[in-house]
Amino acid sequence: MESKIRDIKLAAQGRKQIEWAEMKMPVLMKIRERFRKERRLEGIKIAACLHVTKETAVLMRTLKDGGAEIALAASNPLSTQDDVAAALVEDEIMVYAWKGEGEEEYFQNIRRIISIKPQITMDDGADLTVEIHNMKRAEDIIGGTEETTTGVTRIKAMEKGGILKYPIIAVNNARTKYLFDNRYGTGQSTIDGILRATNILLAGKNVVIAGYGWCGRGIAMRARGMGAKVIVTEIDPIRALEAAMDGYRVMSMREAARIGDIFITATGNINVIRGEHIKEMKNGAILANSGHFNVEINLEELKELAERKRIIRRNLEEYVLKNGRRIYLLAEGRLVNLASAEGHPSEVMDMSFSNQALSIEYLVENGLKLSPKVYDVPEEIDKKVAELKLKSLKITIDKPTDEQIRYMEKWKI
Ligand code: ADE
Repeated sequence: MESKIRDIKLAAQGRKQIEWAEMKMPVLMKIRERFRKERRLEGIKIAACLHVTKETAVLMRTLKDGGAEIALAASNPLSTQDDVAAALVEDEIMVYAWKGEGEEEYFQNIRRIISIKPQITMDDGADLTVEIHNMKRAEDIIGGTEETTTGVTRIKAMEKGGILKYPIIAVNNARTKYLFDNRYGTGQSTIDGILRATNILLAGKNVVIAGYGWCGRGIAMRARGMGAKVIVTEIDPIRALEAAMDGYRVMSMREAARIGDIFITATGNINVIRGEHIKEMKNGAILANSGHFNVEINLEELKELAERKRIIRRNLEEYVLKNGRRIYLLAEGRLVNLASAEGHPSEVMDMSFSNQALSIEYLVENGLKLSPKVYDVPEEIDKKVAELKLKSLKITIDKPTDEQIRYMEKWKI
């Protein structure tokens, strides 16, 4: 079977990593058990463009046990775990991904997975979906899934522009996804990425977080928990107000630029930190991005302002500005939690990827009845994932009594 990875000899280590993740992903493992018995994905070809991590490997093995044939490419040039990629190739999953692949190779790998003529696509950031449409290869596709906020935004723009050719389930929008993965997953893994790259002390630092969506709030919560003084910047007045009432200082990036020790972008938007801000920053300020694309920090303007740069250590680059101050960029401005750490912990990916697995099964069974639109994960799936997760955590909850059900249904006092 064709594949292109760093080194197949890493497979034994990758296998141990995947087994470690499997221990922490009981819901997906339960789904795998059923998939293995029922084989409802028999012969279905899936092209997946996801971060190639141990958690993704657990998902890929689950789909394969359901009968699917899979080709996997990375959804970011820096996020691939090479040992995991090698183990997947040994499991007869086609993989075209290695850590540090170039921009051109990245798209070439996406084109390689398109060449299997998939019936289902799985995407994280929408590069695969966009490329399939650009190549006019969307006709035979039953449907697809999208994992992340940025990807859903892009695909909704395709729907609005009338060019989306097949239905997409927005896995990101399931409550058992964004409330946990975006908040607790991004919160923890972003801090993890920053600490692995820098080993700085967070206690007492001014940490500026751009964006107070679910990711931004997770990062803010965890930074505060480690003793940082958190400042939030926003463009949405309601979210800004929420941040203020959650107890954070809220101000414009212009004001925050002079105060911050560490800046973390989590907006999904472009050029949130620009030259005009970088010029004002303190000597030693650290810049990190936690958004999907490396567009949130204006890297061109950072380079223009710099006299010279050097790599201090892995994922930590020093820019000496013409004004003499030193600014530190983490992971080339790419998503710091996956480039400099290992992405979200398995426990939250358990829920995200259970939604993925059940959404794929749903598409195989119902996709042909759907229109080329963006759909939410069916409520039954979202609820099922929550129930299974609670069960795995041995948490029991109450059931409403008949009297309570009747009470909630009536309007007369
Ligand atoms: N996105 C964020 N964290 C991830 C992980 N651990 N695996 C796959 N995709 C991710």
